[in-house]
Amino acid sequence: MTGMSPYVFEQDWFTANLPRFRRHLSHLRDTPCRLLEIGAHEGRATTWMAETLLGHAEARLDAVDLFVQRRLRENVARTGRGAQIRVLPGASREVLPRLDPGSYDFVYIDGSHATVDVLEDAVLGFRLARIGGVIAFDDYLWTDPLDARRGAPKPAIDAVLAIYAPLIEVLEHGPQVWLRKRAEHA
Ligand SMILES: C[S@@+](CC[C@H](N)C(=O)[O-])C[C@H]1O[C@@H](n2cnc3c(N)ncnc32)[C@H](O)[C@@H]1O
Repeated sequence: MTGMSPYVFEQDWFTANLPRFRRHLSHLRDTPCRLLEIGAHEGRATTWMAETLLGHAEARLDAVDLFVQRRLRENVARTGRGAQIRVLPGASREVLPRLDPGSYDFVYIDGSHATVDVLEDAVLGFRLARIGGVIAFDDYLWTDPLDARRGAPKPAIDAVLAIYAPLIEVLEHGPQVWLRKRAEHA
């Protein structure tokens, strides 16, 4: 962020992933796209998507977080596109089943990093994505020795890649995993 940025952030879990967001999402610019972010935190990814991908008046972004900070709401308002963004408070496993299945062009899974939670976000997120939609997982290679009891994203993402293999195209497999939904499951 430059000194001219209107936003206030403390953490930066996003900038390193910016080339991936550009690579896999640029086709959504100026389209009436539907975007879903699971785990918005302060809104770094949220504000980038708002500025870059919500140019079309019909484009929409849903941002889910268990703990919605005032800073997230303020940063969302500073995008000038707040009317196109819904901030949805709550646990993703409760919020996601209320959203429209098969409707999202992009689902970013970056909420809880516990293995079972990532698995649940993936199953629910896959259902919410449209065919041709992109799904991304953050922190594929992340481990936290202090939180080993709850596990890490990798086993869940590996299971998703195996179980959904006939229904997906893997776009990128590295620190983040990006895939395209090719077909609906039965
Ligand atoms: C790593 S941060 C997200 C970073 C953000 N996507 C970015 O790029 O700047 C993870 C966020 O997920 C939220 N979170 C944790 N568990 C969650 C859950 N079960 N449902 C929804 N959000 C959750 C946390 O409150 C936190 O704000």
